[in-house]
This record gives sequence, structure tokens and C-alpha cells, in this order.
Amino acid sequence: MVDIPVEDPRRGDASTSWIRRYQMRRTVKVPVRHLIRVPSAKLGRSMADLTSIRTDYCRAGLHERDLDPSPMVQLDKWLQEAIAAQHPEPTAMTLATASRDGEPAARVVLLKGLDDRGLTFFTRYESDKGRQLAQNPRACAVLFWVLLERQARVTGAISKVSREETEAYFRSRPRESQLGAWASAQSTVIAGREELLARLDEVRARFGDGDVPCPPVWGGYRLVPDQLELWQGRPSRLHDRLRYTRKGENAWIVERLSP
Ligand SMILES: Cc1cc2nc3c(=O)[nH]c(=O)nc-3n(C[C@H](O)[C@H](O)[C@H](O)COP(=O)(O)O)c2cc1C
Repeated sequence: MVDIPVEDPRRGDASTSWIRRYQMRRTVKVPVRHLIRVPSAKLGRSMADLTSIRTDYCRAGLHERDLDPSPMVQLDKWLQEAIAAQHPEPTAMTLATASRDGEPAARVVLLKGLDDRGLTFFTRYESDKGRQLAQNPRACAVLFWVLLERQARVTGAISKVSREETEAYFRSRPRESQLGAWASAQSTVIAGREELLARLDEVRARFGDGDVPCPPVWGGYRLVPDQLELWQGRPSRLHDRLRYTRKGENAWIVERLSP
């Protein structure tokens, strides 16, 4: 059980200051965890047959001669083609990280910048991913554009972007997202949705009509590629895979991999 602050509607209204309303909160006990006992495994008996789901990829091929010498230019080309094809969430990428002792974790984040330096995304530095990246500043990002039958996989070192870059991006976000960044202690356990909404009310009252600054624990990371692998689906699982590997400042080798 945890103590969750709740507003007492009889003891203040919207005109009451944020700090006063904060002081007037009372708390209720709310269970944090729910233990669910599953009577017996049911999935086995009713399990759908997934083995017959298969797609033969035949849209295009990927040839060494078509690659741009720069992996970031090539990746941008694929991204622009996904955007032009009106692919849903063309910038969504699965980001894999690992803790110091090798425990893996992966989740989707949105790519917000792509240039010669690498791939930029924004998150909370105090999230699980932030903690893992502090311990082990390397990551792998995968973009999958199913409509184009393409996957791009980027592996490399991670560093934080400059504070100016973070703040410029934060200013461009919708106000509700800015408030959400303050309200959500990403990756922490909360008692229920009410707690999140109560925090949102608090930050809304706190910032009033003024600008919402960027939380100090929120910001961008840049994934600086050592490798970029491009995957193009081909018939009968004989896919094309071409991989750039960094060999110095502006030098890369390209290899073809078995599918
Ligand atoms: C389409 C999509 C886009 C997302 N974009 C972001 C993002 O840009 N930044 C972010 O922190 N979380 C994003 N999330 C939420 C993350 O997947 C994840 O739940 C969150 O970052 C917490 O991850 P962690 O506990 O491993 O740190 C997105 C989720 C989805 C499905």
C-alpha cells in the first residue's frame, strides 16, 4: 500500500494557488501491486495456428551499386521513401539497450533527428532506458517499414545531445506533451491512472499560462552508428542484407550478409 495524495474538493478551488492546494492534499492508501493467480494454462488448447502466417516479400531488391557511400544519407533515403509511401509511424524505431550486467530491454521510441552525426531521440534520462544507457552507453535501433518490406538496423555508441538542442526540441512540442513530461516519472510504478492525472493537474496549475520549461531529467540522446544494416525482403526468404561498418573517420566498408 502507498499513500496517494488526493485533492479535497471542499478545501480549495481552481483559484487557490498550486502550492496551497499541494499543502491541502489528503492521502488515501492504494495498493501498488496486484497479484493475479492464473488457474491453469489455457492457451495450449485454444492456441491459434501461427505457422501458416507467412508473407513472401517480392517488392524490390537491394544492390550494392544503388547504395549511397554515406550510410546516414542512405538511411535518410529509406526514411524519406517510407514517409512518401505514407507509412504509419515511419519514424518509430525499436531501441535495444542493456544494463551493465547484460540484462537486455527494448522499446519503441520516435526518431526526431537524422544527420551526419547519427540518430536523435528524446526521452526521460531517469527512465529505465536512461539508467541502462548511463551504465552501458551503447544501443541498437531497428526501423521496420513493412509496407516497403524493409528493415534498417543501427548499432553504435550513445551520448546525450546538447542542452540547447534538447530545449529547442522541447519548445517545439505541444503544450500537453510538455506538461506530460513533468507529470510522468517514466518507468516508475504508480498506483493507478488517477495518480498520473492528479500529477498532471498539479503541473498544469503550477505553470498556469506561462511557458513550460524542459524538465532537467528529460532530453535527447544521439546514437552514433558503428554499423548500419539494410534488409530488403526477397522471395523465398532469400533476402538482401547489406551492412556498412565504420572503418575510421569517414570510411566505411560494405558487406553482403547471408539472409
Ligand atoms: C509508437 C511509439 C512511440 C514512442 N515514442 C517514445 C519516445 O519518443 N520517447 C520515449 O521516451 N518513449 C516513447 N515511447 C514509449 C516507450 O516505448 C517506452 O514505453 C518508454 O520510453 C519507457 O521505456 P523504458 O521503461 O524502457 O525506459 C513510444 C512508444 C510507442 C509505441
